[in-house]
Amino acid sequence: MHQPHAERRKRLMNQIGDGVALLATAPEAARNADNHYPYRADSYFLHLTGFEEPEAVLLLDGRSGRSILFCRDRNPEMEIWDGFRYGPDGAREAFGFDEAYPLAEMAERVPELLTDSGQLWWLLGHDEAFDRRVNVWLDAVRLRCRDARGPSQFGDLRALLDEMRMVKDEAEIELLRVAGEISAAGHVRAMRAARPGLYEYQLEAELLHAFVSRGARQPAYESIVAAGANACTLHYVANRSRLNDGELLLIDAGCEYRGYAGDITRAFPVNGRFSGPQRDVYEIVLAAELAGIAAVKPGAAWHAPADAALAVLARGMVDLGLLAGTPEGAIESGAYRQFYMHGVGHMIGLDVHDVGQRKLRGRWREYQPGMCTTVEPGLYIRPAAGVPEAFHNIGIRIEDDVLVTADGNEVYTAAAPKTVAEIEALMRGER
Ligand code: GLY
Ligand code: MN
Ligand code: MN
Repeated sequence: MHQPHAERRKRLMNQIGDGVALLATAPEAARNADNHYPYRADSYFLHLTGFEEPEAVLLLDGRSGRSILFCRDRNPEMEIWDGFRYGPDGAREAFGFDEAYPLAEMAERVPELLTDSGQLWWLLGHDEAFDRRVNVWLDAVRLRCRDARGPSQFGDLRALLDEMRMVKDEAEIELLRVAGEISAAGHVRAMRAARPGLYEYQLEAELLHAFVSRGARQPAYESIVAAGANACTLHYVANRSRLNDGELLLIDAGCEYRGYAGDITRAFPVNGRFSGPQRDVYEIVLAAELAGIAAVKPGAAWHAPADAALAVLARGMVDLGLLAGTPEGAIESGAYRQFYMHGVGHMIGLDVHDVGQRKLRGRWREYQPGMCTTVEPGLYIRPAAGVPEAFHNIGIRIEDDVLVTADGNEVYTAAAPKTVAEIEALMRGER
C-alpha cells in the first residue's frame, strides 16, 4: 500500500545526488482555547510519506539512499486520551522507511547526517519555525567537528517536488477519481434536496453528508452555496440565505479523500426549471466549459483551455447584449472582465489549487498525461447601466476536474449532471 510513497522518495533521491533533503509535516493549528482545527498533514510531506501524524520530519540521505523518519514516540498515557501513535518502529514498518527515530533524537542525529553532505534541500520559507530549526542543525554541524563541514549549497525543494507533484502517478489518479466521484455524489444529493424555502446551509449539510458518509471527512475547501445574487460573489461562503423560487443556486464544493481534492461547481434552478434568461446564460457557460475541456490534451499549451473558453464567453456576452462591439474587441480591450473576472482553472491534487507553474522560464508549459486540471468558466452579471434587466444577478460557473490522458482527457467528475435536460430531469426525480 505504501509502495507509491517509497517510489516517490526514490525518485526524489535520484535527483539530489550526494545531498540531503529535509521535510517537516504541517504544525497543528489552535482554533480556540484548547481546541485545534482538524489536523491536516503537509501536502508535500503526505506526497512522500502518507504519514499523517503531526510533528514528523523526513530526512532523505542521497549518499546512502536511505529515508529516515523522525516521529512521536509511543506514549501509553497520551494514547489513552488522543488515540494510537505508530511510534518509530511501527511507522518504519507500516510506511516502508529505512530507519525511524523518536523526535528527541533529531538534535543529535540530524547534524550528524548533515556532516560532509552535499547540497541541502528543504522548502525554504515554507515554515519559519522549521527554517530556524534547520539553522540550529547547521550550527550544530559546525560545532560538532573541526575537520568536517555542513552543506555549503542550499536548494529549494519545491523546484523538485512541484515537478513531481504536477504529473500524477497511478495511485494518485485513483485517489483523485474517488475524490471526484464522492464530490459528484454530493452535488447530486444537493440537487435532489433543493427547493424554495430552504436555506443555503441546509444544502451545505447535504453536501457534507454525502462526503462524510463516503469516508471523506473533510471538504477540500469551504463549500460555496450561493443562491441568487450571492452567486456573483466568487468566494461566497456565508451560506445563510434563503433559496427563493425563480432563483438559481450555485454550488462550488468538493471533498478531500485521503488527502486528494475534488472541486466541482454546478448551477441549477432552485425550483427545478430554468427560466428563459437563466437558460440563455447557462448554455453559454456550458459551451465555454466544453470548449475549454476539449482543449485539454497532451502537447497543448496551458493557456489553450482559457483561450477556448473565453472565445465562447465573449461571443455569448455580445449575443446577449451585455457588451457592445465584437467578441474579439471585448477580448482585446478586456471589457469581458466585467462579467468573467477569474482564470479558467488550476491544477488539482493534494491541494485544491495544486502546485505547478503555468510558465517555465517565460514559456508556456504544455499539458502532459497524468496532469489534472479544473476547467471552470463562469458569467457573473451584476446589475449595471446598460445590462439588460432580465440577466441581473445571474451568476453561473460550471467546473469539472479533468485528467490529461495519452490521447486526450477524461472528465472524472462527470457524474454530476450539467446539461439543462439532465439537471431538470434529476430535479423532477427522474434520475
Ligand atoms: N473552489 C475553488 C476553486 O474553484 O478554485
Ligand atoms: Mn476550482
Ligand atoms: Mn471550485
